[in-house]
Amino acid sequence: MLKFVAVALLMTVCVFSVWGEQCCAPKQWESFVGIENTTAVDGMIKVTQQYAIESYDFDKKKIAMVFPAINMRLIQDYNKGMMYTIVAGMCFTTPWPFPMVNCIPDNATMLASFEMGGKDGLMIEQYQLQDFLPGFNGYIQFTRPGCLPVSQTQYYESYATMFGFTNITEGIKDPSVFDIPSPPCPMDVDNVVKPLLFEPAHP
Ligand SMILES: *[C@@H]1O[C@H](CO)[C@@H](O)[C@H](O)[C@H]1NC(C)=O
Ligand SMILES: *[C@@H]1O[C@H](CO)[C@@H](O)[C@H](O)[C@H]1NC(C)=O
Ligand SMILES: *[C@@H]1O[C@H](CO)[C@@H](O)[C@H](O)[C@H]1NC(C)=O
Repeated sequence: MLKFVAVALLMTVCVFSVWGEQCCAPKQWESFVGIENTTAVDGMIKVTQQYAIESYDFDKKKIAMVFPAINMRLIQDYNKGMMYTIVAGMCFTTPWPFPMVNCIPDNATMLASFEMGGKDGLMIEQYQLQDFLPGFNGYIQFTRPGCLPVSQTQYYESYATMFGFTNITEGIKDPSVFDIPSPPCPMDVDNVVKPLLFEPAHP
């Protein structure tokens, strides 16, 4: 479950380019995320549901996901390439060596576009997930204009997971969602990176 939630966080945010001009999402936004997991158990479809609040900050290079129902918080730090999962007073760290994406890559292939809700409805564009998350199988959709995520579907060998993004607001209401508490999270993870960042350039 953690693995797949983590992938959702990578969810990126942009759309379309007209005449080579990239479309980018706002640098800070928050969203309600509905999560549905479909798997086959003894030949029967089993669906589980979960929800989270996602906070995205491209300046901080962090994405946080709060799961109120299970009292869990997950933070990805793209500067450090680490993911922290804080649950039940414990902290789990996982390498997270992915780039954070804010704009639709120039070479991403749009598969289709849709209008939701009839004439003058919401325009949506769909892309291959792997154009954003190399190695992942599925689809990702963005609004146009606005460049915000609408949904993300990931196919695994024996299950599929869908994320729906709704009620997106610009800005971050409570920046403490990005804090990484130490303890329980290890301090040394911070220190691994800091010396590198401040290493003087040798002429
Ligand atoms: C979804 O189901 C798969 C297969 O049972 C499981 O490995 C994964 O952790 C589940 N994810 C969630 C969020 O429940
Ligand atoms: C887009 O370009 C980047 C950088 O050149 C490359 O790593 C990536 O694989 C390309 N993606 C696609 C979908 O072609
Ligand atoms: C989404 O926004 C609508 C309109 O502001 C509000 O009525 C609804 O409760 C919100 N839903 C969630 C899950 O936050």
